[in-house]
Amino acid sequence: MHRRLIVPGAFVAALLLAIPASAADYEPGAAGIGDPYYPASGNGGYDVSHYDLRLKYQPKTDLLEGTATILATTKQDLSRFNLDFGLDVSEVRVNGKKAKVSFSGDQEVEVTPAAPLPQGSEITVVVRYAGKPSELEINGFTAWHRTPDGGVAAQEPESAVWWFPSNDHPLDKATYDVSVQVPNGTQAISNGVLQSTRPVGADWTRYSWRSDKPQASYLATLAVGKFDITTDRTAAGLPVLNAYSKDLGANEGAAKASVERTAEVAEWLEEVFGPYPFNALGGYVPNVTSGYALETQTRPFYSPKQFASGSNVSVVVHELAHQWYGDSVSVHGWKDIWVNEGFARYSQWLWSEKEGEGTAQELADYVYASHPADDAFWTVKPGDPGPENQFDIAVYDRGALALQALRGEIGDKAFFEILKGWPAEHAYGNAKVSDFVRYAEQVSGKPLAGLFDTWLYQTSKPSAPAAAGVGV
Ligand code: ARG
Ligand code: ZN
Repeated sequence: MHRRLIVPGAFVAALLLAIPASAADYEPGAAGIGDPYYPASGNGGYDVSHYDLRLKYQPKTDLLEGTATILATTKQDLSRFNLDFGLDVSEVRVNGKKAKVSFSGDQEVEVTPAAPLPQGSEITVVVRYAGKPSELEINGFTAWHRTPDGGVAAQEPESAVWWFPSNDHPLDKATYDVSVQVPNGTQAISNGVLQSTRPVGADWTRYSWRSDKPQASYLATLAVGKFDITTDRTAAGLPVLNAYSKDLGANEGAAKASVERTAEVAEWLEEVFGPYPFNALGGYVPNVTSGYALETQTRPFYSPKQFASGSNVSVVVHELAHQWYGDSVSVHGWKDIWVNEGFARYSQWLWSEKEGEGTAQELADYVYASHPADDAFWTVKPGDPGPENQFDIAVYDRGALALQALRGEIGDKAFFEILKGWPAEHAYGNAKVSDFVRYAEQVSGKPLAGLFDTWLYQTSKPSAPAAAGVGV
């Protein structure tokens, strides 16, 4: 009896091994990539290598339409997968065949391919879509800036959902070709190198951009409007392209006096952080009403408000520093935001020191003194601020204080070796706060867990650190 049961069991097992896994073994990819700060961000089950966006935008109506072609590799046996996106999808094809599409929440598109996808396959996903990005608001948040002459996608931690379908998390970086058709007299600005500008019929022009180093989805940008464009080459021969809205009004001079110094600032940053990680530079200043800037890859986004008091090279230093700290080396999860903002802020202090406008130590002393012990500033943990405080001033200023404390503890030689070594160590990748702590210990040869715990994870004002060295 016993024996007779075993035989058919073994027979069935042998049969299962002999035939390809049945569709029943295939599972849906997760709806999120697993970031506790933003559970809906990104998706499981696949990894994107390239986005090709071929779009058309009409500033008069804010209608954006076109096709996204996504090249990806499956990381599991997939029965279906999600894309993060908020505009209207009319058709999705996977490997040329029509897929079933459904929607959940504000930003999840569920794609069920005609045939299940085995792990390790290269897939091509074509998404046709249209919509008005300004009509999309998620939890009161929008990444789309409608301007009098167009629109701009620039926000953190997400902006892709407003203009293209993606695996929307820094853990899945990819290269980009962004090609956008706009009415004559209007330009489309994006990341990387402008490959071509071509007429489309009598009334439209197509701008085609290429960003050919790994790029996080929130660092992809699109700006359509009427711009003054300046171009140049760096001493090393990299193309520089800046764009300024034609209606910056009284802020135009200060904006240009700042952003035109991009190449000079990048050259100085190379001395501190090592070789510039990308092959194009620039910045753009659209006529938005918001007040923040963003380190969109190779071509940061600036608000006209930043130039309301005259030139502001410091914000250029901040956004360019992010090209190393944030764009080339990206957060592993959003709780690691200090590896971006702490360093971008600290680079502004170093610039100030170089310009003779106050040393990093003086700026650190000022920040330390200006927040009394009962200030909420000290309750925000730069090493894990929570999504609600991700961009709190403490992540920036207390985050930079942590670096000044580190500099005092290990001395200038090891400190600047670390500032240069880190972007090389993790170039084009992702890293955690804990990776930085370990790296700093390794380079300096000193135990630093206590120092970082004090400055990044305590919720009360630490006692003043020893002063750090002068001069870069
Ligand atoms: N990484 C940007 C910067 O520091 C921050 C953008 C934050 N966005 C916001 N709405 N606060 O330059
Ligand atoms: Zn920043």
